[in-house]
Amino acid sequence: MKKFTYSLLFIACFISCKKEPLIIKKKEPQVGLVSKNAMVVSARAEASQIGIDILKKGGNAFDAMVATELALAVAYPYAGNIGGGGFMVYRMANGDIGGIDYREKAPLASTKNMFLDKNSNVIPGKSTLGAMAVGIPGTIAGVFAVHEKLGWLPIEDILTPVINLAYKGIVVTEKQEKRIKEYQPQFLKANKEATLFNKHWKTNDTIKYPALAKTLERILKNGKDEFYKGETAKILARFIKDNGGIITEEDLSKYNAKWRDPITFTFEDLKIISMSPPSSGGVCLAQIMKMIEPYNISQYNHNSLKAIQIITEAERRAYADRSFYLGDPDFVEIPLDKLISNFYLNERMSDFSFEKATLSKDVSHGNVQVIESDETTHYSIVDQFGNAISATTTLNGAYGSKLYCSELGFFLNNEMDDFSSKPGEPNMFGLIGAEANSIAPEKRMLSSMTPTIVEKNGKLYMSVGTPGGSTIITSVLQTILNVYAFKMGMQEAVNAPRFHHQWLPDEIRMEPNLFDESAINELKKLGYFINEKDSRVIGKVDGILVLNDKSYEGGADHRGDDTAVGF
Ligand code: DON
Repeated sequence: MKKFTYSLLFIACFISCKKEPLIIKKKEPQVGLVSKNAMVVSARAEASQIGIDILKKGGNAFDAMVATELALAVAYPYAGNIGGGGFMVYRMANGDIGGIDYREKAPLASTKNMFLDKNSNVIPGKSTLGAMAVGIPGTIAGVFAVHEKLGWLPIEDILTPVINLAYKGIVVTEKQEKRIKEYQPQFLKANKEATLFNKHWKTNDTIKYPALAKTLERILKNGKDEFYKGETAKILARFIKDNGGIITEEDLSKYNAKWRDPITFTFEDLKIISMSPPSSGGVCLAQIMKMIEPYNISQYNHNSLKAIQIITEAERRAYADRSFYLGDPDFVEIPLDKLISNFYLNERMSDFSFEKATLSKDVSHGNVQVIESDETTHYSIVDQFGNAISATTTLNGAYGSKLYCSELGFFLNNEMDDFSSKPGEPNMFGLIGAEANSIAPEKRMLSSMTPTIVEKNGKLYMSVGTPGGSTIITSVLQTILNVYAFKMGMQEAVNAPRFHHQWLPDEIRMEPNLFDESAINELKKLGYFINEKDSRVIGKVDGILVLNDKSYEGGADHRGDDTAVGF
């Protein structure tokens, strides 16, 4: 099926890597870890191992989710967090599905124009660096809600290994050494004094996290209220105030994670289950896949001219809708059913032709009547009972706002940048928003996170997701298509080169030097703008595929330190 082979770029991280020279070109294994009973795939081996240990102790996928999420907060401070938030969708062995939103919220004192100066211009850095950028964290509320509703093991059994990991410390990888070094100047800018992360950490050093361990111990003792109403809440609110932010104890005490019905839709004989708003992930994925479906994409080769055209044109139209219609469903009316209806989406693609690129300037959001009224991390888990989860969690940018609370031992997010600070003004991912995603007290900012579970013929088929800001949706899309339409295995699908279009800017971003030159030349002739410079990597996908013999293949992205562990 594949026309050409490719090598993968080994680089340090998703966003930071843009300016880095190409370090290693290496052919990666095309088959991932295969295991019979259960699997966890995450950004760090330590976190995947803790998740698997919980399963081996008799825990289920939800217990393992809590353990893996919190272990990532220790082992992967770049994106793993208790100072951020995320989304998780699940499918139980009996086919029941659900989702939880533990997305950050805007503080009570936030205002629509809080990131604009007196001339209504966006103040550079205010929504990305330091205390004003921070949204009210949701992770602890999220994992406790999951544990309470769906977990089996006592919380001590889950938190104790994580606390031990924080005391014992984490060995610095090559990629981590580079990442920390790259962001050190920003850590100094965001914090009043040097933090743990301003030391000169080298590969194979061990970083210990006693402050985080103590915070987690208090959380273990007092439950989620420790973070939102207890001593931790007091320390956190004081710390944010001291650093010029506006999150108060009241904000923390009012935070709740929310159970939400996932978006579900079909694509040929697949049923896709993905996150609903306030993530745009599920809606956009549904729109793109449904726009692609009539073209029978498997008749074309992977990453061939026509396959790229169909996917790009569907993406362009979906992202235009995203920017206009999507926001926090508790605040805005989203015409969800219409946006993902076949009738509307067929109409949306009706002006597409293989002969010529549609220009983004000629594409606006579609006409739907509204009834009045780039760091993140993903992990997938399948347990020995057949339950599956798919979770994506984030601080937004690398190390979030760069603001590190030394007393509590964690970074705080810069999720406020995911709001639209000003209509038409791009955020750090170049995404443009409108009124639907404007800032308001207690509102959740729109996300692109796309934790997704796929069923085939009514049975579990895949759990998949990725970081990557605006490229999350398109990376998840390509991974599903790689497996299903282009007949790849899980690891091969994760390895394959990716591209991305998000309506504006009007360009196809491609991982450099990995695409067929003749296809690129043809695309240019047809009026497509190609950008191979700005994204050394697109996404960092982790997934689990159910193989024909019912064993699991992990796909752990070599673009990071991601690792599958199973038994
Ligand atoms: O929720 C979102 O869409 C963003 N905060 C995700 C950020 C991200 O993926 C950064 N990673 N590269």
